[in-house]
Amino acid sequence: MRTILVINLKGGCGKTTVATHIAAAMARSSAATGLADLDRQGSARRWLKLRPARAEAIQGLDWSKALGKPPRGVDRLILDSPAGLRGDALTAAVDLADCIVAPILPSVFDEMATDRFLKRIDKIKAVAKGATPTLLVANRYRPNSIAGRRLEAYIAGAGRSLTARIVERALYADLATQGLTLFDQTTASARRIQEEWMPLLEAVDRA
Ligand SMILES: Nc1ncnc2c1ncn2[C@@H]1O[C@H](COP(=O)(O)OP(=O)(O)OP(=O)(O)O)[C@@H](O)[C@H]1O
Ligand SMILES: [Mg+2]
Repeated sequence: MRTILVINLKGGCGKTTVATHIAAAMARSSAATGLADLDRQGSARRWLKLRPARAEAIQGLDWSKALGKPPRGVDRLILDSPAGLRGDALTAAVDLADCIVAPILPSVFDEMATDRFLKRIDKIKAVAKGATPTLLVANRYRPNSIAGRRLEAYIAGAGRSLTARIVERALYADLATQGLTLFDQTTASARRIQEEWMPLLEAVDRA
């Protein structure tokens, strides 16, 4: 079983969007997939309730009060975390993970929050030793925008790299209200946009 923790200190950066997309992509590739919601807001749980029966099944777990045990038979477990997870709760979540995925918005405030977040998780043993990789994902990215270029410069300056760039699109909010993701769509345009996610999905698979 592989566990993927989607996390950043910052609220609204796309943690739930990224977690649900990874979960739906993995479910589609026939892995038995679980989505554990660590957030009291319950966005991932609500999304799963909206998910139609015809969509690939994802097992939901409510871990908002405490981390639970991964259920038997699940091959891939995605953890959707709340903003601001810190201290022992952060360490416990990181310790469960084989891989960390951190969405970042192209904004100076998100960069500052990401800096604090990366410094914090870099102190956790598994991350410090290099056993648990941290994959950075630019979300709501707009190619050729000033904010996009700023983010690229910030990431390069920090000696890191972006694993994927997810462009800002209105369809993410529309799909979320139906319990769906791009990976539940088979249209040519959905398949084109899925390409943006491939470097992340491949990196998660390798981790
Ligand atoms: N690439 C994108 N393009 C357009 N809208 C997006 C994109 N990613 C996320 N959003 C929208 O931004 C809002 C916040 O996203 P999301 O809920 O995934 O963030 P979050 O980090 O989980 O927030 P929270 O900290 O509240 O848990 C949602 O309305 C979502 O639909
Ligand atoms: Mg969320």
